[in-house]
Amino acid sequence: MEKTKIILDCDPGHDDAVAIILAGKNPKIDLLGITIVSGNQTLDKTVRNALNVTQHLEIDVPVYGGCSEPMVRKKVVAGDIHGESGLDGPVFPPLERKAEPEHAVNFIIKTLMESEGDITVVTTGPMTNLAMAMRMEPNIVPKIKQIVLMGGAIANGNVSPAAEFNIMADAEAAYVCFTSGRPMTMVGLDVTRKVLCYPEIVERMGRIGNRASKLFVDLMGHFCKTQKEVFGWEGGPLHDPVTLAYLIDPSVLKVKPMNVRIDIRSTESYGRTNCDPFDYLHLPHTADVAMDIDVERFWDIIEENIRLYG
Ligand code: RIB
Ligand code: CA
Repeated sequence: MEKTKIILDCDPGHDDAVAIILAGKNPKIDLLGITIVSGNQTLDKTVRNALNVTQHLEIDVPVYGGCSEPMVRKKVVAGDIHGESGLDGPVFPPLERKAEPEHAVNFIIKTLMESEGDITVVTTGPMTNLAMAMRMEPNIVPKIKQIVLMGGAIANGNVSPAAEFNIMADAEAAYVCFTSGRPMTMVGLDVTRKVLCYPEIVERMGRIGNRASKLFVDLMGHFCKTQKEVFGWEGGPLHDPVTLAYLIDPSVLKVKPMNVRIDIRSTESYGRTNCDPFDYLHLPHTADVAMDIDVERFWDIIEENIRLYG
């Protein structure tokens, strides 16, 4: 079976942790490295969280710390959702794993430059690391097979009326990536808000009974509580794993090519992904944007991948 080579760039983060679960053992995915960015919490915390998850689940993949600040704007975090640690809820054994000494941006550059152009870059946090890599070494751009990101929305945002967190947390980085000319699939809030992790889903995954199952339950215990407090939802939207589910089974999403531009100029709409699904502006299509998701298939993929942990 042809494996999809990926670099997963993330800001764990509860839903990032579930994305790591999907990427960690799936036979269709060759996870070359996990690069970390500040986003849901500060970099020291998001690195620690990634090390805890990979150590606990025995995912033997290197973790690289990346950018601790956005390219231009002032840093923001999402402690209201992910807690002070960035991964409140689960309790992990003493952490022994260490991050690699190499900076994430240098790992991205080196790995892409040495590749045959067959690597997919998946981002589930602010796009700072990938954008900085593109600026430091422009020759990596044609080497990127495709970018699959969780971020943005055709409709309204989740941290402002206009913007979704990953884009707004570093809109300039998103702008660099979205203007790179590489094939992009944008998994936005329009579909991730359809995969709400209701109590019955948590119970279903909890019945599997392995270490990943217990971690999923502990993660959702916090994530769903804060999502209810902040947004009033009965289940937390499981944003980030939708990217991996799409790579594992592309039929899970319906995507549409369209022009997408990142607003970095305005104040009120800073970080908006201006999507043009009806080609009003007759501009070149720059991304495949997720329009719908097979919710049942998505939860089946989550269950199938949790079961891979023995
Ligand atoms: O807006 C949702 C995104 O922001 C997810 O990636 C979540 O982890 C946070 O990073
Ligand atoms: Ca994230």
